[in-house]
Order: sequence, then structure tokens, then C-alpha cells
Amino acid sequence: MAFQKIRKAVFPAAGLGTRFLPATKAIPKEMLCLVDKPLIQYGVEEAVAAGCTEIIIVTSRGKSTMEDHFDKSPELEATLAAKNKTALLEVARSVSKLAKVTFTRQPEPLGLGHAVLMAREIVGDEPFAVLLPDDIVDAATPCMKQMVEAFHETQSTILGSEVVEGDAIQNYGCLDCNPDPHNPRLLAVKHLVEKPRPAEAPSQNAIIGRYILTPRIFEMIEGITPGAGGELQLTDAIKALLEHEKVYGYSYEGKRHDAGDKQGFLRATVELGLKHPALGPDLRAWLKAQSF
Ligand code: UTP
Repeated sequence: MAFQKIRKAVFPAAGLGTRFLPATKAIPKEMLCLVDKPLIQYGVEEAVAAGCTEIIIVTSRGKSTMEDHFDKSPELEATLAAKNKTALLEVARSVSKLAKVTFTRQPEPLGLGHAVLMAREIVGDEPFAVLLPDDIVDAATPCMKQMVEAFHETQSTILGSEVVEGDAIQNYGCLDCNPDPHNPRLLAVKHLVEKPRPAEAPSQNAIIGRYILTPRIFEMIEGITPGAGGELQLTDAIKALLEHEKVYGYSYEGKRHDAGDKQGFLRATVELGLKHPALGPDLRAWLKAQSF
């Protein structure tokens, strides 16, 4: 097989975001603002830092603000230019210049596997990245960049993974795996178990919202039947892929925030707010002065 690069990144963003109601009644979850930018922008920046040049966002009805966000905004730019607000002008412009961003629709939220399948035509016959926009990974080397580097070694499907504590494994896909003898961050996957009972979990290695998938996954998604909640589960398709190809976990370096639920989002806001170069110092001083 010829050496393959990861050029395209798919962002499933067509879900209903019910855990965030009422905020998500009219605003897409992926557009909720964490500190000073929408969730999806963190993921897109990470994919671009990993070398991806084409971003494919899977959307649905009522989510057109994502299209506006990554498009040029001539009126805003003209106003900022007229007022000589050059720094803000650069901020506004840079978002639309991040990458080529295309959109495709998922007509109904039939599951993560189904959302990925919607990108098949645009992805074509090459390996690609998938990033779930509500998993925000704060890392010195962006998480997807770490995974792309590992992919250069394996040329196989790679699932972002982290060790979770205790019973938390029941909320994730779980890896039954062995560490690779040459690269301790790579885990050779033998089997996957979706949301196992803690006593039955083969490990504490959970799958997070970062994937590099080979194009054969599309065939696998088409071959599976709806699983939990009547949805086409990406994990079931990866299980099917395991029968044909090698699959690895990748124990990334960094800290993940689950910004897909309210508590995780609040914690991410505080932690990333404190790390923000312009806002952090004041926020820290203010927090210290409070007697909550
Ligand atoms: P989630 O399960 O976290 O998102 O899926 P959700 O379904 O929108 O949220 P809740 O559980 O109702 O609160 C992870 C990602 O996959 C996308 C979601 O938009 C989210 O970014 N997704 C999920 C789809 O694009 N299509 C689907 O059918 C399901």
C-alpha cells in the first residue's frame, strides 16, 4: 500500500444536543462559546494543526450558523477596517481562512456511524480524521497531530484513547488491547466493548472523540444494523473493521474536557479561561478574591 497522508477531517455535528437544553433549542451545541470561541472552532484548529486541509462538517436543519462562522463576513470586515480595528479584523478574517470547509447534511440523527457515512462521497477512497466537536483536548502537541504522526507509522485505523477512573468506563467504548512493543502510546486492539458494565470491562482504556479511519469503514457502516438507541454506532462498524484490518488505540498526551454536558462545559470554561493569555490573569485574581 502506498504511504497515505491525512488530508481530510470530518466533524459530525448533526446531533440534537439534548443534554444542553434549553441552550440548544435554537443554537447548535457545536456553536456554544467556550471562553471566546465556539466549540467547533477548537476542533477545526486542531485538525488544521495536524495538517488537514479539508474540513467536512456534517450538519442538519437549524445549524446554518456554522456555515456563517467559517465563511467570510464582508460587512463585519469592512466596518472593522473603516474603524482601524486591525487586531479584531485579523481575528474575524482568520476564521474563514483556516481551511477549505465544506458541509454535508444528515437528514435525521441516526447515529454517529450514520453521520460519518454522510461524508463518504467527499472523503472518497483515502484515510481521514474524525473529531467530535464536544471533546476539547488541551495538549502541547494537538491531539490529532499526535495521532497523525502515529498513523505515519501504522497506516491503520487509530482511535484516540485515555485511561478513565473506576466506573466511568461504562460511559465509553472500551478497548481490549495490548501495548505495542515499539511505541508505548500505541495499543494494538483485539476487541471493542461499547459501554461495558465496570466488572466486565476488559480495560480502563476508553475511546474518546478522535479517530483516524481507513475508507473501508464506510463499507462496514453500511453493513451494520442499528444498535443501542436504534442508531448506527461507529463503534459497531469499527468492530467489523477489526475482522479485516489492524486497529490501534492511541494514548494521547494532554487533557480532555467533555464539553458535551453542562458540568464538563462549566469546568472547561474555568480551566481554559484561566489558561487564556489575555483573560486568564484577571480571572485568576478575581476567583481568588471571592469567598463563594
Ligand atoms: P453526542 O451524542 O455527544 O451529541 O454525539 P448529541 O446527540 O447532539 O447530544 P445529546 O446526547 O443529545 O446531548 C457526538 C457528536 O456526534 C454528532 C453530534 O452532533 C455531536 O457533535 N452526531 C451524533 C451526529 O452528527 N449525528 C448523530 O446522529 C448523532
